[in-house]
Amino acid sequence: MSEITLSVKGLTKTIKSKKIVDGVSFDVRKGEVFGLLGPNGAGKTTIIRMIVSLIKRTSGEVYISGKSVDEDFIGAMNEIGAIVENPEFYTYMSGYKNLLHYKRMSRKEIPESRIAEVAKLVKLEAALQQKVKTYSLGMRQRLGVAQAILHSPSLLILDEPTNGLDPQGIREFRDYLHDLARSGVSVLVSSHLLSEMELMCDRYAIIEKGKLIHIETMEETTAIQKDLQRVVYFTTNDSQKAKEVIEEFSGQPVSIIDAAHISVTTAYESVAGFNEALVKAGCKVYEITFEKKTLEDRFLELTNHEAGVEES
Ligand SMILES: Nc1ncnc2c1ncn2[C@@H]1O[C@H](COP(=O)(O)OP(=O)(O)OP(=O)(O)O)[C@@H](O)[C@H]1O
Ligand SMILES: [Mg+2]
Repeated sequence: MSEITLSVKGLTKTIKSKKIVDGVSFDVRKGEVFGLLGPNGAGKTTIIRMIVSLIKRTSGEVYISGKSVDEDFIGAMNEIGAIVENPEFYTYMSGYKNLLHYKRMSRKEIPESRIAEVAKLVKLEAALQQKVKTYSLGMRQRLGVAQAILHSPSLLILDEPTNGLDPQGIREFRDYLHDLARSGVSVLVSSHLLSEMELMCDRYAIIEKGKLIHIETMEETTAIQKDLQRVVYFTTNDSQKAKEVIEEFSGQPVSIIDAAHISVTTAYESVAGFNEALVKAGCKVYEITFEKKTLEDRFLELTNHEAGVEES
């Protein structure tokens, strides 16, 4: 059994007799990046605010590293680092001075050497002596994470952390979330963007209208289902010939994309036979790829929505 860093049980929030969050339960394991995915208004921020005790739970329990928030509030909160709203910094001071100031205000005893350590983790070492007002949005975001993990929490919680970041920024962000996770920190992250979740998470829960409707790993989402018919791409030296060979072999229609690429819809199991027929006929096969299922496909399958989550 892997260690559980965050355990949420039956989390519920009722406002004016409306259930905004309804019986949500999930666990986040040690060293895992776990996502809350759902459209705008699904209840992600409300779930996070209850976990970090910014708002009261109507009912439900929260345990952080085994500590109940009800029984050991300070102990549990000391295990959390979070960015729920945009973190505020003194922009006329350097990143280093900001972190130093934060260290001094912390309830926990933090050695000053920890500042260099977190700066390295979020890849901000080079800019640490620069004033924050010269930082880009992505650098400020990273300084926010550095601040949130300064006291060595076992759980980092980020609500829509990549808001406003460009694709390059998101990719970098993913890299250091994974570095953090590998260093043993668990990460809970929310987003309404499928493409982001796909880049960042090991496992995710889909939240819809306050309810958790499904949990699975990113591997399960994107895995090739062997019995399913899907589009396969062959890269060969001769598309026309390859088309004829596969059509002759299988009776399946083949589309020519360009001089080197063809596509055909078939099951995983048939592909080896197609390849063999091509090679026997003298075609050079350079690459065979399956069209991957995306998180968006999966979300639509699970929610039966025409348009569930925005893709941008
Ligand atoms: N204090 C409040 N009073 C009344 N309704 C609220 C309150 N806070 C949240 N809600 C409602 O609860 C629902 C969930 O809100 P929440 O902010 O948790 O969604 P979200 O998943 O974070 O959405 P987004 O992706 O837009 O950030 C929304 O319909 C929102 O209007
Ligand atoms: Mg929100």
